Amino acid sequence: MKQIAIAGLGVVGGGVADLLVNHAAVIEKNAGEEVRLKAVFTRTKKPDSPFASYFVSDFSEIEKNPEIDLVVETIGGCSVALDVVTRALKAGKHVVTANKQLVAEHGLELFALAKANGVNFLFEASVAGGIPVLNPLTRCLGANEITEVSGILNGTTNYILTQMLENGESYADALSNAQRLGYAEVDPTADVEGIDAARKSCILSGLAFGKNVSPDDIHVEGISKVDALDAQFAEAGGMKIKLLGRTLVQNGKRFCFVSPHLVKSSALLAGVNDVFNAVCVRGSAVGEVLFAGPGAGRYPTASAVVGDIIDIVKNPGRMQPAGWEACAEKPADFSQFHARFYIRVPESEKEAMERQLGKITWLPARAGYLAGVTSPIEAGRAIGASPRPASAWPIFE
Ligand SMILES: NC(=O)c1ccc[n+]([C@@H]2O[C@H](COP(=O)([O-])OP(=O)(O)OC[C@H]3O[C@@H](n4cnc5c(N)ncnc54)[C@H](OP(=O)(O)O)[C@@H]3O)[C@@H](O)[C@H]2O)c1
Repeated sequence: MKQIAIAGLGVVGGGVADLLVNHAAVIEKNAGEEVRLKAVFTRTKKPDSPFASYFVSDFSEIEKNPEIDLVVETIGGCSVALDVVTRALKAGKHVVTANKQLVAEHGLELFALAKANGVNFLFEASVAGGIPVLNPLTRCLGANEITEVSGILNGTTNYILTQMLENGESYADALSNAQRLGYAEVDPTADVEGIDAARKSCILSGLAFGKNVSPDDIHVEGISKVDALDAQFAEAGGMKIKLLGRTLVQNGKRFCFVSPHLVKSSALLAGVNDVFNAVCVRGSAVGEVLFAGPGAGRYPTASAVVGDIIDIVKNPGRMQPAGWEACAEKPADFSQFHARFYIRVPESEKEAMERQLGKITWLPARAGYLAGVTSPIEAGRAIGASPRPASAWPIFE
């Protein structure tokens, strides 16, 4: 029998506790032994909680309890969560987390700590919630030289863009609807400005290419500058606007960035709407595979957490090779990324733009603006030439 403690009993932690208690039989069958919830560390005691009898208010009780084999961290952020995870690993307990910020910003030190203490540190739920991506990337696709991992990594922004494109809503209306439905936080900055997708992209980049990427070192543009006119132009051009987090190797250079993209309507990623996430992996042997499904939510995310727990319980003593190494070399600057770009300019700028960027395939003008797709150029040129820099977005193909 293995005993589990959960730190943080909110949306995800509550779901994990529920699965451990109420899906105990299937978890035992798949893990090969009983997996029992032993303690829950919370900030506030909630007497009405079905898990109230497990509550402890001092993490030392978990840290010092030799009966606890594994700690699930679902607090979020990097202050208390980092303290709890560090203490658990040092106490020789495996850790499973859903916390992308923690993994993106402190992954290196936590991998080293897990290794030094002979325990595992797994984080499948930190990217794309319930969709199994990290495990397949590092194991099932292990025969491949990975060339690209790109995805719709944030459900809130995908919902907003879908509402704008499919239902003609303005950005402001789509955002307020997302908040009303509980998809977006009251402060939506981390989602709409691409910060959340950036953390996930750094994790995917680390696993795909084995080198640490700091969220501070990558180009990040969210969706706050996408407007209804861009959505109309995309539609007219047979494309969708998607916020993509991408990491790839191009001409020997490693890239990692987050940006709105235009995606051909026929592409797999274009069909992923609303709060769903999807990750497209390109590998030397497999070609292209798409992982899609619920990228967040109580039970989808808890499902990924419990999957990691089962993996650890089932493979006692096996150190999971999940992680990456320190790397002095930062990813290549986004300005060097070579692609076709969507640009949008006032009609009067047409000739000037063609002189600077070469051949552009223009769409019919709307509201005094022209939008078009350039031939392949470097991002720096596209952004530098555009009078409205935010509207030079790569075409995903
Ligand atoms: N929600 C999702 O769909 C989702 C999906 C994928 C990954 N994640 C990640 O999962 C993690 C948890 O997210 P969540 O949505 O479950 O958050 P949440 O609902 O806000 O839950 C956080 C929990 O941590 C507790 N907590 C906060 N500060 C604490 C402290 N100082 N000491 C002890 N407990 C503390 C909170 O207690 P109180 O109840 O007292 O506030 C709450 O129970 C985050 O890293 C998030 O990025 C979430």
